[in-house]
Amino acid sequence: MVCFHFHPGEPARTVGWRDPGFIHTAFMRDLWPNKEYTYKIGHELSDGTMVSGKPYTFRAPPTPGQNSLQRIIVFGDMGKAERDGSNEFANYQPGSLNTTDTLVKDLDNYDIVFHIGDMPYANGYLSQWDQFTAQVAPISARKPYMVASGNHERDWPNTGGFFDVKDSGGECGVPAETMYYYPAENRANFWYKVDYGMFRFCVADTGHDWREGTPQHKFIEECLSTVDRKHQPWLIFAAHRVLGYSSNACTMNGTIFVVAGGGGSHLSSYTTAIPRWSVFRDQDYGFVKLTAFNHSSLLFEYKKSSDGNVYDSFTVDRDYRNVLSCVHDSCFPTTLAL
Ligand SMILES: [Fe+2]
Repeated sequence: MVCFHFHPGEPARTVGWRDPGFIHTAFMRDLWPNKEYTYKIGHELSDGTMVSGKPYTFRAPPTPGQNSLQRIIVFGDMGKAERDGSNEFANYQPGSLNTTDTLVKDLDNYDIVFHIGDMPYANGYLSQWDQFTAQVAPISARKPYMVASGNHERDWPNTGGFFDVKDSGGECGVPAETMYYYPAENRANFWYKVDYGMFRFCVADTGHDWREGTPQHKFIEECLSTVDRKHQPWLIFAAHRVLGYSSNACTMNGTIFVVAGGGGSHLSSYTTAIPRWSVFRDQDYGFVKLTAFNHSSLLFEYKKSSDGNVYDSFTVDRDYRNVLSCVHDSCFPTTLAL
């Protein structure tokens, strides 16, 4: 599971290598929206007997546009850590266990998770993927665990990525593409869209070029422009790296920017320049929760991993009016739905 189809990278092809065995992906189709299902992972032995793990339950997703309570968790850069504190290089992801444990305790209060890049920080050591998948299994066994590609999953020189740096330790995205499912048209291009009830998520792959004229730019435009905002008003664009925007902008055209990179890895300091649109900063471990109560009200919360409490929040109220049905003077001149 290294990028042999490009140029093999180290340590993924040397000391970090071990045989990954088989990794299976199973699909469950024709599920009833919002219905709870129970499943077990099983294996047929050579003598024909079946062995299976313990049962897990999960709730099938709401249909696109469905009006029901929908709660989303978003964070990046979590990593993994040992509970006994052993064997972790430089204590690189000190907040990781707190974030995982807080989310495990709160399983009944959210519906889907987006871990938007930098998952295990395995950096070419494949056994660390096992450690990470085991750490998040109490969550991912019960909730959709959606992922995005981070620099520690993808970046490696001369392998078709945008950044010629060695952050993936030679993985080139191969373990990430294999370990977790995401509905991309081409799984080597880690960008995709997901419709989840009143939400649409457009997830970009910032390890690949996104500039105008590229396939990814076309995807982003298509994803953002084709959503029916009447039925799916909550349009979320997610990416590991910031795609680039002017820090001098004072109006952001109704777009709210959130950086949620405090999942667990060591924290970087802020720059001294504070852009005018930056209203809240916190240098601590945490994650973001979006709660859509209906088509017109969304609650944003920033929670710290240490205690699960809310340290910043705002609401978005949105009033949809079907302007096409308006006759002269019967509607307000503007609508938030456009
Ligand atoms: Fe990163």
